Amino acid sequence: MEKKNIDWENLGFAYIKTDKRYVSNYKDGAWDEGALIEDADITMNECAGVLQYAQTIFEGLKAYTTEDGRIVTFRPDLNGQRMMDSAARMEMPQFDAGRFVDAVTQTVRANAGYVPPYGSGASLYIRPYMFGINPVIGVKPADEYQFRIFTTPVGPYFKGGVKPLTICVSDFDRAAPRGTGHIKAGLNYAMSLHAIVSAHANGFDENLYPDSATRTKVEETGGANFLFVTKEGKVVTPHSETILPSITRRSLMYVAEHYLGLEVEERDVYLDELKDFAECGLCGTAAVISPVGKIVDHGQEICFPSGMEQMGETTRKLYETLTGIQMGQIEAPKGWIHVI
Ligand code: PLP
Ligand code: COI
Repeated sequence: MEKKNIDWENLGFAYIKTDKRYVSNYKDGAWDEGALIEDADITMNECAGVLQYAQTIFEGLKAYTTEDGRIVTFRPDLNGQRMMDSAARMEMPQFDAGRFVDAVTQTVRANAGYVPPYGSGASLYIRPYMFGINPVIGVKPADEYQFRIFTTPVGPYFKGGVKPLTICVSDFDRAAPRGTGHIKAGLNYAMSLHAIVSAHANGFDENLYPDSATRTKVEETGGANFLFVTKEGKVVTPHSETILPSITRRSLMYVAEHYLGLEVEERDVYLDELKDFAECGLCGTAAVISPVGKIVDHGQEICFPSGMEQMGETTRKLYETLTGIQMGQIEAPKGWIHVI
């Protein structure tokens, strides 16, 4: 498919309408066969479950052009599985993970002209989502749902590309101890909006949310998990039942251990020990791995030795190995690369 006339190198992280989107409807207890459509607008009843009680979940993944010109996605089966987990927690019907991968494949194929070329640094962001669409006024789950996928070409999530970020420890909580922090529900993001607007107004790039129960441990940011590197070169990531189980993080921990031969550890990480780490990064589909130079905890500045100019050495190795795998320059573990 012919490439669209887009300034790939200068894309930010914003919505650009592409040609086709996938839709499947759930009614009378079953999903229909699904189809690609052109209309980007959705019409629904004023009382739709999603509008009244925020019954909506989503996923995020990317399609890339590899060095040899193939279009691929990265571990889409894990997004499909996570969406099934999100649906179960939100009392929504599950969309089978195998069908999810097929729907992603169809949608990317139909928008192949928008997949940025190899070497541009951009990618096609894929947004699967599902919401309750029939009228619901008593507090209960909807009976009818729509599953959709749209795509949009994107550049880096954080402005300034690979410049290290400054993060503040938030006064707000993201997730309750037995709440919904571990699933990808729109409600988690709705309640983070005030916190992110406040953080930006105070000159910070993102929030570090501590655990709500004790406010002593590191959880995650509004849209990415944390990775730390110790002075001895060990890669450490917070263990928590209330953070989103990031696919990028799982992949980076594997890369650290099996490709780079580093020691890795998933454990409680206390705010008190932040000052002892050598490097810090945020990892996620949108963030890939974005270096953090500084964390500010109520006036107390923690500056990582990697500084505010460039990625730390280990963070860079992780970044280069992961993107090398995604772009087809480094051999991927079995099943990680899904060819469209
Ligand atoms: N944490 C949150 C809150 C997110 O929204 C995301 C983005 O999806 C992540 C972490 C990273 O997850 P993944 O690597 O699966 O994209
Ligand atoms: C992603 O990384 O895919 C996300 O969904 C994060 C979002 C904040 C853009």
